[in-house]
Amino acid sequence: MANHPTSGRLSHEKVETNSFLLIVLVLLVVAFGGLVEIVPLFFQKTTTQPLENMKPPTALQVAGRDIYLREGCYNCHSQMVRPFRAETLRYGPYSVAGESVWDHPFQWGSKRTGPDLARVGGRYSDEWHYQHLYNPRDVVPESNMPAYPWLAKNTVNENTISAHMTALRRVGVPFTDEAIAGAPEAVKGKTEMEAVIAYLQSLGLARTGQLSSVQSAAQPAPAAAPAAPAPAAAPQADASAVAPVPAAAAADEAAVKVENGVVQFFFATGKKDVAQGGTEALADVIAGVKAGKKAVITGYTDATGNAAQNEELAKERAFAVRDLLLSAGLTEDQVSLQKPADNNAGAGGQARRVDVALQ
Ligand code: HEC
Repeated sequence: MANHPTSGRLSHEKVETNSFLLIVLVLLVVAFGGLVEIVPLFFQKTTTQPLENMKPPTALQVAGRDIYLREGCYNCHSQMVRPFRAETLRYGPYSVAGESVWDHPFQWGSKRTGPDLARVGGRYSDEWHYQHLYNPRDVVPESNMPAYPWLAKNTVNENTISAHMTALRRVGVPFTDEAIAGAPEAVKGKTEMEAVIAYLQSLGLARTGQLSSVQSAAQPAPAAAPAAPAPAAAPQADASAVAPVPAAAAADEAAVKVENGVVQFFFATGKKDVAQGGTEALADVIAGVKAGKKAVITGYTDATGNAAQNEELAKERAFAVRDLLLSAGLTEDQVSLQKPADNNAGAGGQARRVDVALQ
């Protein structure tokens, strides 16, 4: 091999028989591959720009966040909703990088002894948070979260808050001079409890608010929305046989309705997102199953578009509703899925639905 024609240059044989050279070259290749993946992130708007409707946190929220870090809440709580259906059903819209650009250090995490908190803002009242932080067992009897009663006694240190905010501004959080100057006054006399609650109540609102206009499933269907004008294609002739279409369904949004003990889930065109409030609407069905009955899920498709696709969608919608029942504690053998029914119900929102009934 010594007189192999390529042996003088960097031949494969040389690379493979010299482990030091191999290590150096492997490191070079991996470093290059890593850079190709990582460097563009520094220049992409989606990873460097805050969401449109994000506002810098208030002084009290900054103080609350500091206490959140001090108490190590992140050891048990992540703040990142992964883009999986089970996650978005439970927590709301999945997290995007833009939400965290002002978060120093970010609180994504992966340890979830407790639930993810990325969307907890607005989910509970301030009073609930107070009770829960003071003694979690008072509101969630089976909770193993530690109690933080001292938060109710300690007051926020107003002397350091401006320095904290100045440092955060240096790394990109756009606090105004007035906000920083007014910070001591804003937090003076507030308890740490108030600060933590202000912080918790601010989590995830930008993203939820941003999505509400496009992804109606992320918001509860308005109970008394003004009836939208029926779409031209809606079946008018047979109106007496078809129950009135709920306003939300007519407006092509996900909605849920209980009629004669049957829970009807309506879906937006082409979507399989289940309307919020579904679990609540299913309460009677769930109670019935626990009393020994069976939940039967039937899907219906509308006549718009490709029949095979519609059937597939009807199936996925039925699965989404079944997941809801399973996540409420029912087992697979308590829930039966029926073949999607014929789409003889027309083309309107009334037809795009999944029914759950007791049997
Ligand atoms: C040892 C782990 C642990 C630590 C530390 C911890 N938690 Fe929790 N947390 C839990 C568990 C478990 C639950 C679920 C049971 C419950 O609601 O109490 C929970 C629930 C919560 C909830 C309700 C979330 C929801 O969606 O229902 C909030 C809010 C919360 N924690 C905030 C905090 C804050 C703020 C801190 C720090 C001061 C903290 N937690 C520290 C374990 C922890």
